[in-house]
Amino acid sequence: MAVTKAVIPVAGLGTRFLPATKAIPKELLPVVDKPAIQYVVEEAVRSGLDDILFITGRGKSAIEDHFDRNLELEDRLTGDEKKKDLLDRVRASDRLAAVHSVRQGEALGLGHAVLCAERHVGAEPFAVLLGDDLIDERDVLLTRMVEVQQRLGGCVVALLEVPHEQIGLYGCAAVSPTDAGDVVRITGLVEKPPPEEAPSNLAIIGRYVLAPEIFGVLRRTPPGRGGEIQLTDAIEALTGLDSDGGPVHGVVFRGRRYDTGDKADYLKAVVQLSCDRGDLGPEFRAWLRDFVATQLDGDTPSDPIRP
Ligand code: G1P
Repeated sequence: MAVTKAVIPVAGLGTRFLPATKAIPKELLPVVDKPAIQYVVEEAVRSGLDDILFITGRGKSAIEDHFDRNLELEDRLTGDEKKKDLLDRVRASDRLAAVHSVRQGEALGLGHAVLCAERHVGAEPFAVLLGDDLIDERDVLLTRMVEVQQRLGGCVVALLEVPHEQIGLYGCAAVSPTDAGDVVRITGLVEKPPPEEAPSNLAIIGRYVLAPEIFGVLRRTPPGRGGEIQLTDAIEALTGLDSDGGPVHGVVFRGRRYDTGDKADYLKAVVQLSCDRGDLGPEFRAWLRDFVATQLDGDTPSDPIRP
């Protein structure tokens, strides 16, 4: 069965970016000049998924507004030849996909957020994309995962090799190889293990293609790490040989991924994507070269700015 639906949980509080996220959802923080969440929706659409379901919460309605029309703004931009390009860019987000939303109500964990999608998704395989992970549009991940799911069935999880000391920040996979170089069979999963107990350095990054059987498992999944219902625990339950949800595979990603939920990585994403932009790149690169040569000669400032 084809994969057409993408579920994007956006109910998280964004405490890492306070006070910027006091009144603005963290998903709307700009990466260059587009909200982080728009990159994620565009990635889903590029992979053929044009039915988007946001799992939202209190204070997040601006995300739905971003993917809706803004007629007042359109009126102001219409008719001015010089503003035509801007108008097209304003309209791009509401033309992208059919956007739906459901409220999570209580923040009981990622597994619970995905369970909130059950009614909308029904009995089809579907994708889950986490907003903090931004995949460079020049690298292909979700399209490959959908392809693998269509060929092998079951669930497909995105994996990234991370330094051993960082594995405790992620879900971690025990794997065995398959004939395809970038595809592994997942034999076990553990959410945020201490590095000394981790079965590998393969971290789950926020892209999943899941079989609908996950919903039945999620309903029975008790709170796990951090007292939250973990998606990792539910997928782990499907790795058993007698599972009716089919096999669980991993696609090992070797492209560019930015964690826009982390301040330093967010800054790196803005710098890297600005450098590569056709319109901004030349000027920004020239400035950056000069800045690095004159300002970043190894010393940290003696009077650092307070956060
Ligand atoms: C979630 C998942 C974790 C995964 C991570 C990827 O954790 O629970 O398994 O590795 O996303 O970004 P979170 O970062 O929401 O704590």
